[in-house]
Amino acid sequence: MIPKVRKAVFPAAGLGTRFLPATKAQPKEMLPLVDKPLIQYGVEECIHSGIQNIIIVTGRGKSSIEDHFDVSFELEHTLESKGKKDLLAIVRSVSDMINVAYVRQKEALGLGHAVLRAKELVGPEPFAAVLSDDVIHSEVPAIRQLLDIYEYYGASVVALMEVEGDAISSYGAVDAEPVAHNGTNNRLYRIRNMVEKPKASEAPSNLAIIGRYVLTPEIFHSIESIEPGSGGELQLTDALKHLLRSRPIYGFRFEGKRYDAGDKLGFLKATVEFALQRFDLGNEFREYLKGLKL
Ligand code: G1P
Repeated sequence: MIPKVRKAVFPAAGLGTRFLPATKAQPKEMLPLVDKPLIQYGVEECIHSGIQNIIIVTGRGKSSIEDHFDVSFELEHTLESKGKKDLLAIVRSVSDMINVAYVRQKEALGLGHAVLRAKELVGPEPFAAVLSDDVIHSEVPAIRQLLDIYEYYGASVVALMEVEGDAISSYGAVDAEPVAHNGTNNRLYRIRNMVEKPKASEAPSNLAIIGRYVLTPEIFHSIESIEPGSGGELQLTDALKHLLRSRPIYGFRFEGKRYDAGDKLGFLKATVEFALQRFDLGNEFREYLKGLKL
């Protein structure tokens, strides 16, 4: 029997340097996309994929994340006494949605290091990992798409996306062969090798790893076995490469649109497109945009 994925790890201890000065005193995970913090999009993606247990790896100055997923008695009391039922429901749904646990990453030593901090809370079972600055809009939640592969093959799965030109040097890149699955042969890949942030001229392909993973628990041993890599950090990609020696790993080119919301331009694109899709804002916002002399 293939064990069920019940937990998702959210590394959230990064310094958010791409978004300074907004992230000087506020975690990038709390930047609002329209009216929800980035991390909530990832959390809702997990809930809609059937995962309710969330482990957030936090660092210094990240207490607003904990407050966000906690009950706010004061706010709820005020909304209740003013009869603001809609807002009360919105505020409550955040704290009601999940079981959340926190673990501290004292130093930002890389994505692999962040995931390793969750080892005790995850225990010997498979888990998802979600990078909340990769926001994915899709019909079927991206994590659900990876879980479908995991539940079939019982192996770790990473999300993949094709990127243009030199952009691959900002990602983990994979060398992979297509695998026929569910009537298609252009979405699922068996990974042969992977490299973190290669020079574009040395990249094995234009298939980039995007921040959604389903990982079997052996990954922890692999993280403990590797040395710091790109940027002097303990890289998850290097740990996956180590894991490849003993286990198969799959890559899935997910259906959906991904926004790099940790980047200023990507964040603006996501803001505009998400606002346009909102039933309560979309029409007015569209009219406003049309009126701009661009
Ligand atoms: C991380 C991973 C990288 C992956 C990327 C996706 O890099 O290390 O392999 O391609 O997320 O967003 P980061 O963006 O944190 O530098």
